Amino acid sequence: MINSAPLSASQIMVLLLAQLSAQSSCNLSRKQTPMMNVSEIYASYLESTLIGVQREEANLYVVRALRHVIQDVFAQLSPTLMIMAATRSSMLDTWFQHVIGVLLSTWSDGTVQMLRANGTQSVHVPGRKYCNLLLVDSYESLLDTRIAEDNAGYDDHEYYFIFLQTRDQYIERERQLILEYCLAHYWLNCNVMVQTAQVEVLVYSYYPYQEQRCQLAEAQLVNRFDGQRMINAPMFPNKLRQLSQCPLTLLLWHMPPYVELSPGRTAGGFEMQLVQHLAQRLNFSLVLHKLHLLRVDQYKLAMANGSINGPIELIMQQRVNMSIGYFRKTARRDQLMTSTPAHYYAPLVAVVESDNFRFGRLAWLTFPFQWPVWQTLLAALLLHWSVYVWHWRRLGLQVVELLLGVAVPRLPRCWLQRLVYAHWLLGSIPLRIIYQSLLFHFMRLQLFETLPSSFEQLLSSNFRAFCTSNTLQMLREMPQVDCHYDSFTGFTTSYDQNVLDALQHNRSIGRRSFAIAGLDVTKAHLRDTGQEENYHILTQYVNVQQVVIYMPKHTYFYSEFTNLIRRLDASGFIDFWRRATFAESVHRNQRRENNEEELQQQEHRRRIHETQLTAIYGVMGSLYAIAALIFCLELLIHRLFNKT
Ligand SMILES: *[C@@H]1O[C@H](CO)[C@@H](O)[C@H](O)[C@H]1NC(C)=O
Ligand SMILES: *[C@@H]1O[C@H](CO)[C@@H](O)[C@H](O)[C@H]1NC(C)=O
Ligand SMILES: *[C@@H]1O[C@H](CO)[C@@H](O)[C@H](O)[C@H]1NC(C)=O
Ligand SMILES: *[C@@H]1O[C@H](CO)[C@@H](O)[C@H](O)[C@H]1NC(C)=O
Ligand SMILES: *[C@@H]1O[C@H](CO)[C@@H](O)[C@H](O)[C@H]1NC(C)=O
Ligand SMILES: *[C@@H]1O[C@H](CO)[C@@H](O)[C@H](O)[C@H]1NC(C)=O
Ligand SMILES: *[C@@H]1O[C@H](CO)[C@@H](O)[C@H](O)[C@H]1NC(C)=O
Repeated sequence: MINSAPLSASQIMVLLLAQLSAQSSCNLSRKQTPMMNVSEIYASYLESTLIGVQREEANLYVVRALRHVIQDVFAQLSPTLMIMAATRSSMLDTWFQHVIGVLLSTWSDGTVQMLRANGTQSVHVPGRKYCNLLLVDSYESLLDTRIAEDNAGYDDHEYYFIFLQTRDQYIERERQLILEYCLAHYWLNCNVMVQTAQVEVLVYSYYPYQEQRCQLAEAQLVNRFDGQRMINAPMFPNKLRQLSQCPLTLLLWHMPPYVELSPGRTAGGFEMQLVQHLAQRLNFSLVLHKLHLLRVDQYKLAMANGSINGPIELIMQQRVNMSIGYFRKTARRDQLMTSTPAHYYAPLVAVVESDNFRFGRLAWLTFPFQWPVWQTLLAALLLHWSVYVWHWRRLGLQVVELLLGVAVPRLPRCWLQRLVYAHWLLGSIPLRIIYQSLLFHFMRLQLFETLPSSFEQLLSSNFRAFCTSNTLQMLREMPQVDCHYDSFTGFTTSYDQNVLDALQHNRSIGRRSFAIAGLDVTKAHLRDTGQEENYHILTQYVNVQQVVIYMPKHTYFYSEFTNLIRRLDASGFIDFWRRATFAESVHRNQRRENNEEELQQQEHRRRIHETQLTAIYGVMGSLYAIAALIFCLELLIHRLFNKT
């Protein structure tokens, strides 16, 4: 702006005073300097050899430019504005105060928060600052504001308009430092306004993603004040519409079928497809940072060592730009990182072996009739028996024989007895038929006892729960889990598949157990291993977890990714990928190692069913044959005895 910095502040102040007294619209300046003879100072200022008439215009020019920014840019963005003046020089400080006073006198329909920072003694006011007009004289003054600290925890992008007021020779260096600071702190909407000695008000910004120039804070002229208005309309242009094939680092780990890492350089899976689509839409290239997930015990060791390099740490240190791999959203993680909306809701279900609920041998026999039917039957039997014993004073075994369908060898002589027999026989025939057919039917259908509907029921009937230790940690927030914590076993693995395998292997060990795992993974895994029929998936979800893309806090891509993911979700793309991936995993796995074994097992199972049925038919057939034989023998004997 001005050739001589030490003079500039007071000179500008005088200019403003002159302008203000001429307008006589604001008495602020006069109040602050009541002793001054304005015209005297003005005269001395005009006499000064360092400042010409042109300089005076230049300074009015600056005030107008700032007024334009407030009225036409910030007023459209938010009703509240944050103005902060930061300088370590007391003269510039006074000047900034005056400029702000003038600006505010013309802008009444908004809330303004004003702060001053001068080096060490500045007062720090915490809280979010959305629209920011910063008046600084150097990069150090910008640091004094500590504004990055206040906004670091938020995900939306704030607006920063920084008026850098310094001598021409320092402008370039300070501007560059400030833009680099913006880049490092993800200040995407960051403009730096300067005023040169040639009365030019110029606005610079940076484009982080340009062809061949990625992740650079290279100053580019975006706007210029022509005395009335800024030449280019959008003061804060969209810089992320096109990332020009700039590389973004994606952190990922093997977590089939969400992310599948093959030995080569490629990666596949449902989430990978999503990220590749994002890359295509925003035109960025992907650099894969593959991570080998530590087991929980190793992780703890590393944490004690201080040499930890887990996904959360890598993201927080901004060494990667985003991360996928069945990364579930938790409150704690959200405090440390930024997450997109969930692209997948992972319901956790309890899986239990159906065999635990098969009928015992005796239960089978009683199952066809309900308890009241049995009671009535017993009462009727007792009644008949007592009538029989009381009247005919013989053993009442015949009543039981009749009930079981044994024929009466001799017709009773007494009519009453015949009536009782006939009644009892006729009554028991339908009962017997119904019972036998129901029994047969149930055996064929392989019915089970009432299956549990929630995992709490399982826990209360003394089942043990298996899950990955990561899942267990998340479930622990649920009170039902926390109060039964002893019944849970966390496996030191990241994969639900291993937990399901463990459930399968521990079948013979004795204690009854169930697994808690993701629904889709469980279904796919049971299908792959051909165990679908042996396991029951409880209908009630244990919990529904959100799988998200995690990024460093306050990242550039939050709103871009959010919009794209919402759109993809609404249009059904994400669901399509998900279904395709899970179906594919089944087919591929079947084709792979399990192929032969699997087919054999299926064949085996089918044969078991068939042999069971054939055995039943065989037993029935032979019983009928024996009965027919005995009947024939009886007839024969009867003939022979009658003849003799
Ligand atoms: C400024 O002060 C003078 C007297 O000190 C007063 O007459 C005038 O009305 C004031 N102007 C405004 C805008 O307050
Ligand atoms: C202010 O200065 C001008 C010019 O030097 C002089 O004419 C005027 O009397 C002074 N006014 C006061 C109040 O001192
Ligand atoms: C900061 O401002 C206070 C008064 O507000 C002043 O005493 C102090 O000297 C200033 N510090 C610097 C470094 O300018
Ligand atoms: C993506 O960026 C590259 C490099 O800047 C460019 O050549 C290409 O046209 C862009 N593609 C699209 C679809 O915009
Ligand atoms: C812990 O530190 C020791 C050396 O201090 C190192 O040998 C070891 O690899 C570290 N362990 C982990 C898990 O980083
Ligand atoms: C992206 O990650 C790289 C490291 O791979 C880092 O230097 C850069 O700052 C990150 N950029 C963004 C916008 O997160
Ligand atoms: C279950 O089986 C796994 C191996 O498959 C074993 O590590 C684990 O100790 C067993 N758990 C119990 C409770 O027996």
